[in-house]
Amino acid sequence: MPETGSREHDSPLDLLAELFRRHPAWCDAARYLEEGASSDLLFTSQPDAVWHLERRGGETLLRSGAARDPDLIFRFTPKSVENLSHASGDIGDIAVRLFHLVVDVDPGEGVELRVAAPFSRLVRRGYLSLLAAGGLRVLAFGASHGVRTVHDLRGLVDRIHRAGAAAWVAGVSAASGAVSPADRRGLRLRMRRAAREIAAQHDQLREIVGEINDALACGDTASAADSVAHYCDALGAHFALEEDIVFPALHGIDPRNGKVIETMLHEHVMLFTELRRLADTVDEVGTADWRAAFYELRRSLSLHEAREETAVYSEARQPDEARQPD
Ligand SMILES: [Fe+2]
Ligand SMILES: [Fe+2]
Repeated sequence: MPETGSREHDSPLDLLAELFRRHPAWCDAARYLEEGASSDLLFTSQPDAVWHLERRGGETLLRSGAARDPDLIFRFTPKSVENLSHASGDIGDIAVRLFHLVVDVDPGEGVELRVAAPFSRLVRRGYLSLLAAGGLRVLAFGASHGVRTVHDLRGLVDRIHRAGAAAWVAGVSAASGAVSPADRRGLRLRMRRAAREIAAQHDQLREIVGEINDALACGDTASAADSVAHYCDALGAHFALEEDIVFPALHGIDPRNGKVIETMLHEHVMLFTELRRLADTVDEVGTADWRAAFYELRRSLSLHEAREETAVYSEARQPDEARQPD
């Protein structure tokens, strides 16, 4: 791999942009991320400006301004960008350098990171696949910092996510108990609409499963594989709707819903990871093992949907004055 070398005449922004344009390992890393994945970039040397990186049309675009819905937010010091520019190896080398700058280095010289998206959205957008592509070096770095499993990683991301909400989003209180009765009425109206939409989407998802089962019953593995890909997209969009709109409303109405939301988010990660695995092993779509795994996934998903509909419907049906926050 070529060294990009020191580029002291460039601003940190120019240097970073150059890495994404020309450095083979950086370009390779970006390809693991799905369309629409985006990160905001802040620089200590230019505190009044913000840029964002976005995957669009198979390319990584650097644009001025904040992303509409970023997954991650980075704040770089000039020294940290200089350090990253010396990465000469593969994805693992870049990832370990970046994590080292985030975790081990003083913020005055390192990188500050905030996680803006829920863990499940990071999984859908390919960040977990990107970490896996980093290989043993990334695993070893994670293990040396107490992150040995996906569960550990999720816990870490959730902690950073919560810290970010409190520390970086000025003027936004994390205390959902501060929601006024009028706001709660508005949220409950939104829940009533969402309850209908969620139930309709669950029906649509079941129809796609029916198509998969029909194709398998006829031995038409090509059609089954197409339907599995469709199912993967549809489930990802459905989870995004729940995580972006329904769950925040559910929590805003009553913070005591946090526990059930936590369970549902955890299930989203597990279910989508398993569906992704099945979609990636589509060559085996007709085998008994694949079918058994798909059946088990559907069983887990049905339980998840039933729990979700119960939580959303029961909250939507509550009279506005019936429940008060603790
Ligand atoms: Fe869900
Ligand atoms: Fe759902």
